[in-house]
Amino acid sequence: MKFFIDTANLAEIREAHELGVLDGVTTNPSLMAKEGITGKNNILSHYKAICNIVEGHVSAEVNAVDFAGMIREGEELCEIDEKIVVKIPMIKDGIKAIKYFSDRDIKTNCTLVFSAGQALLAAKAGATYVSPFVGRLDDISFDGIQLIEQIVGIYQNYGYQTEVLAASIRHPIHLLKCAEIGADVMTGPLSIILALLNHPLTDSGLAKFIADYKKGNQ
Ligand code: G3P
Repeated sequence: MKFFIDTANLAEIREAHELGVLDGVTTNPSLMAKEGITGKNNILSHYKAICNIVEGHVSAEVNAVDFAGMIREGEELCEIDEKIVVKIPMIKDGIKAIKYFSDRDIKTNCTLVFSAGQALLAAKAGATYVSPFVGRLDDISFDGIQLIEQIVGIYQNYGYQTEVLAASIRHPIHLLKCAEIGADVMTGPLSIILALLNHPLTDSGLAKFIADYKKGNQ
């Protein structure tokens, strides 16, 4: 399973990269705004800064919602770095844009996916990644994990190459359920990756090993 970090915060991206388990980064306009990154030039150079830290794919989202605008923005984003994946919303013009980029071997991530039908369309258009939002479905009393399972099954039936990128992952159980199902990628905050480290028996066991070593090596 690939671990992506869902943030535009450079310190968090660096920390996840230094841990050695980071496979890529996803961002969106809200995450960029949260870091105070505004204005086209600042946004483009922030993406470059992210690409300079990580080795894997970096999803950069278009802000346009019309076909021509998405193509123009996507082409600009691709110029930044070969790690850039153009993130495109699940709307009619978005599907056309994904097909346009896929025909030109440009990688895409279809975002704001909330149903299996949407995921099927994204795969047919040739998206590199599809991003179903697990947490946001749970928020409105739909089962986000069940959607991941449904999409993984459909893609397996037909051998689609589109990778299932479980997004809006909010806690370690989300991550583990997605891993059990076989989601290709999960994206979430750094805190979720770090939470995987924790177990009280690890802490108490290590404390005893340290104490016993000290006793025998005074
Ligand atoms: O990758 C999608 C993600 O940014 C949404 O997460 O927690 O805002 O629902 P969240």
